[in-house]
Amino acid sequence: MTGVVLTGIGGALPDNHVSNADLAGLMDTSDEWIRGRTGIAGRYWSRTTSTGDLAVAAGRRALDSAQRDEVDLVVLATTTPDHPCPATAPAVAARLGLGPVGAFDVAAVCSGFVYALAVAKGFLAGGLARSALVIGAETYSTILDREDRSTAVIFGDGAGAVVLCAAEPGTPASLEHIDLGSNGEDRQLVWVPGGGSYERTHPGADRSTRFAMLGREVFRTAVTRMAQSSEAVLRRSGWTTADLDWIVGHQANERILGAVADRLAADRSKLIMNLDRVGNTSAASIPLALLDAVTSGLLAGGDRLLLTAFGGGTTWGSATLVWPEVKAEPADLIPT
Ligand code: UT7
Repeated sequence: MTGVVLTGIGGALPDNHVSNADLAGLMDTSDEWIRGRTGIAGRYWSRTTSTGDLAVAAGRRALDSAQRDEVDLVVLATTTPDHPCPATAPAVAARLGLGPVGAFDVAAVCSGFVYALAVAKGFLAGGLARSALVIGAETYSTILDREDRSTAVIFGDGAGAVVLCAAEPGTPASLEHIDLGSNGEDRQLVWVPGGGSYERTHPGADRSTRFAMLGREVFRTAVTRMAQSSEAVLRRSGWTTADLDWIVGHQANERILGAVADRLAADRSKLIMNLDRVGNTSAASIPLALLDAVTSGLLAGGDRLLLTAFGGGTTWGSATLVWPEVKAEPADLIPT
């Protein structure tokens, strides 16, 4: 089967930084609680910047990093699209000057980036495209209930993007294997209850269009699912934990990532984390963590990576990746 290689990476953040101290001025919380329970010290909340704006900026950086100005496909993972209809990806493709390429959104909440990688890998391996821009972009600040301290302190806005290309099987720097899963029975763990078609046919349904989450239950489920999915993709790849140089988990919570590493019997020093600076950016979190790691010199060509995510749906997914020799710029801070 055709191989798939990563050839570029980029990211973008809105330039409005919100510290824990800022939030303590808005609600009954503290820097100590937020840092201690999550590891987060700050996040970026856009004022007017849309998900599409962030996706365009991240996409441009990824294309520059890959030294190309065209791709055959754009796959955008997001739960906070610019409009309920249409998808955000076609506008992003147009704004990037990519022409009439296939472009669509993938909705798998915080697992969205791994799902989008899987979709793009399928297109490339199946010969439907030769190259793809895969973007995770979110503006959770637009759906958060800013009076709910149990969710508002966790999420931030941002976008991360990678360029994938078809390659000869066995080419170095390849996206190896992927594991995906879901459990719709648990959809109420992380959700926006109202605003969709369900409430129309279910009198009395919760019509709130604000984001809601059952934090403790999500915590437990996330650890179990990410660990199981990681084990599955490692098996499929013929790798063991000892083969891994880095684990890049969805940046949900430092304690969740620590527990996943423990379950995999991996040293916690293998965890790549940037959630202290950007919070949980949902579908953008894995590419933004990868970008931070490459621009700070942590990642080297040939390193073996495990990516793993858990999110609303519930959904989960993991991937194995051999890191390429790639040059990248830090995330673009865009005026908001
Ligand atoms: O991206 C995927 C989706 N999301 C996640 O992965 C999130 C997963 N869950 C978590 O990260 C954690 O469950 C949270 C960070 C959301 C909460 O941490 P926790 O250790 O599970 O706390 P808790 O919900 O059990 O709450 C403990 C206490 C409660 O007070 P009482 O009832 O013990 O008096 C909460 O009301 O902490 C209180 N609390 C807060 N206090 C200060 C909840 N949020 C805050 C806050 N500041 N922001």
